[in-house]
Amino acid sequence: MRQVTTTTTDLWHHYGRNRATTDRTVPAEFCWSWSQNSGPGAEVLGDLSGRIVGDLGAGAARHAAHLATEHQPFRVIAVDASPAQYAMATDLFGHLAPRLHIVSSDVLDHLQTMVRSYDVLYSVFGAVDFTDPRELLPAMSAALQPGGRLVFSTLAHYLSGAPAQPDAVAAEIPAKTPDGGATTLRRWVLQEHVWTKLLDEAGFTSIGIDVLPASTGPRAAHTLLVTASRPKD
Ligand SMILES: C[S@@+](CC[C@H](N)C(=O)[O-])C[C@H]1O[C@@H](n2cnc3c(N)ncnc32)[C@H](O)[C@@H]1O
Repeated sequence: MRQVTTTTTDLWHHYGRNRATTDRTVPAEFCWSWSQNSGPGAEVLGDLSGRIVGDLGAGAARHAAHLATEHQPFRVIAVDASPAQYAMATDLFGHLAPRLHIVSSDVLDHLQTMVRSYDVLYSVFGAVDFTDPRELLPAMSAALQPGGRLVFSTLAHYLSGAPAQPDAVAAEIPAKTPDGGATTLRRWVLQEHVWTKLLDEAGFTSIGIDVLPASTGPRAAHTLLVTASRPKD
């Protein structure tokens, strides 16, 4: 009998790799914007003291490390599906356990194990950008406690300057395999009204969307900062 082994190529192998060789510090600031150097900070998440907080698509877990060290949560759980990002996060910030818990998992699988568990969920250009929102938003709603808060930042338009989609469709964007080969991955870049409709359909209320203006530079982009709540029972 033939054995079939399936593997998924890690398209996030290269992301943040250079920075990790020189910068091992916990960031002093938490930024939502694409440029990561301006705009509102962790206060958008609300008071995190004693809270259970989840970072969905945490990458090297720099944002999660900041919250774990500066905001007295009960726990920040940093979830990422990329083996390379998990390894990087563990190497950089594994010592912040147990307040920072780094998890290697697809967020959809992880959220299924966390029904009504989280006080706060957030994503900084993370899993929300790269996972079908018609699956992810209901899964996030179910994983939040009643009254729990969701915050995410996402692109307001494509990096090329092309406008965001008027419907809930993904576009293929360029990516690199671990050995440098060219490929693509799916990214959801959606207009504000599309996010509002999807969040509403997933059961969220108190939906708010701010546009954070781009800083200058060749790959500058405006950011949508999206907030929403799971209603109380
Ligand atoms: C652009 S990076 C952002 C990482 C981090 N939030 C930051 O700001 O540096 C996107 C991350 O989302 C992760 N990701 C995308 N889809 C995911 C999913 N469905 N489950 C878990 N992680 C996911 C990728 O592995 C990648 O590390």
